[in-house]
Amino acid sequence: TITEVLAWEALDSRGRPTVACRVELAGGATGRAVAPSGASTGGHEARELRDGDPARYGGYGVLRAVASVGATLAPLVTGLDAVDQTAVDAALESADDDPLLGTVGANAVLAVSLATLRAAAASTGRPLWRHAADDGGGAPLLPLPMVNIVSGGAHAGRALDLQDVLAVPVGATSFAQAIEWAARVRAAAADLLDQRGVPTALVADEGGLAGGLDGNEAALALVTDAVQHAGLTPGADVGIAVDLAANQLHDGTGYRLERDGVTLDTAAWLRRLEAWCRDYPVVSLEDVLVEDDWAGWATATGALGATRQLLGDDLFATNAGRLRRGIDDGVANAVLVKANQAGTVSRARHVTELARAAGYATVISARSGDTEDDWLADLAVGWRTGQIKVGSTMRSERTAKWNRLLEIEATAGDGGAAFAGAAALSRSPA
Ligand code: PGA
Ligand code: ZN
Repeated sequence: TITEVLAWEALDSRGRPTVACRVELAGGATGRAVAPSGASTGGHEARELRDGDPARYGGYGVLRAVASVGATLAPLVTGLDAVDQTAVDAALESADDDPLLGTVGANAVLAVSLATLRAAAASTGRPLWRHAADDGGGAPLLPLPMVNIVSGGAHAGRALDLQDVLAVPVGATSFAQAIEWAARVRAAAADLLDQRGVPTALVADEGGLAGGLDGNEAALALVTDAVQHAGLTPGADVGIAVDLAANQLHDGTGYRLERDGVTLDTAAWLRRLEAWCRDYPVVSLEDVLVEDDWAGWATATGALGATRQLLGDDLFATNAGRLRRGIDDGVANAVLVKANQAGTVSRARHVTELARAAGYATVISARSGDTEDDWLADLAVGWRTGQIKVGSTMRSERTAKWNRLLEIEATAGDGGAAFAGAAALSRSPA
């Protein structure tokens, strides 16, 4: 039974405030969680509440969200059974007439929801992933990681138009090997840039390399070369994923590639993506078009989705209604799952289950503003998402998740851990 809910203002990896929360239960068990925060946010995601007071943290303060925990959310969940996450989340969701939770603040709601999950796990004496799995047993399933190598867009001062160029260790046979390969590719990419005299010490929001590339395609070429330079085989060992974050590219007339000096209409943009897919070992494309172009997305799925993963982030916004529409319209074949886009643990889990039932792949994801909290890793394993996207192999808010997954794999004990591998991709490379 929940006896106490406390919230406070903490900092995320960008140095901006975020909501932290501690839930205490009658038996003395406690759970603590911190909410993450995006920068390239979609229009359909749950809405965080910020103070807008320029005198504190440049307006990014979250004291109002903290106050809604004390005044509104805590009274609603106090006395509820923390093990019944569905009931707790239903109570939290009932606090706001806005389904996007903008009045009480989705950042407040998610912090309470996650802290409850942690407290319940503590009360049962089980690891968080096991509690989240709720299946009574079974070996943990470690996800295939998507690891940021080169960053652009809103995460890197628009050094590139593409937001993320990532390494996907499709040939790895364990999570630990996948991370070692990804780290090797990142180091090799930095080495190749060093050879060209490009400074590589400064990193982007998610720990990726930023800057020094003359155009967007150069980033795809760099990562492909880096795989080779790392002693691995592009395609067979390590594929490439790209997050186009297309909302950020569209200027009202077309897809604007500032670094290439062109604006492309949808057809020309899709042709460019097809060309990149022919020339580089691309296994996954995320947010290829703006979030509300459902017709364009259906066309894109026909053109690009037959042979590779087509992943909806801002498109689906971890929203069951939007995912259902996508499934009905044959749009994309994979969904990015971000708990704070949904607002509660239960909503995010529901989206994961809906996707799986429709044959869509699931990729659980951190945000560009994240924290040292590692609940994401346990949800990836417990929900058997198959894939995870966290950022690069440096910056502690990123490594917290990788390290937790390494721990789960290393300590799996009897029966060991299974690794999802390339089979987790919506369209596995042959
Ligand atoms: P965000 O970016 O956390 O800044 O929204 C992550 C992504 O687009 O995948
Ligand atoms: Zn994205």
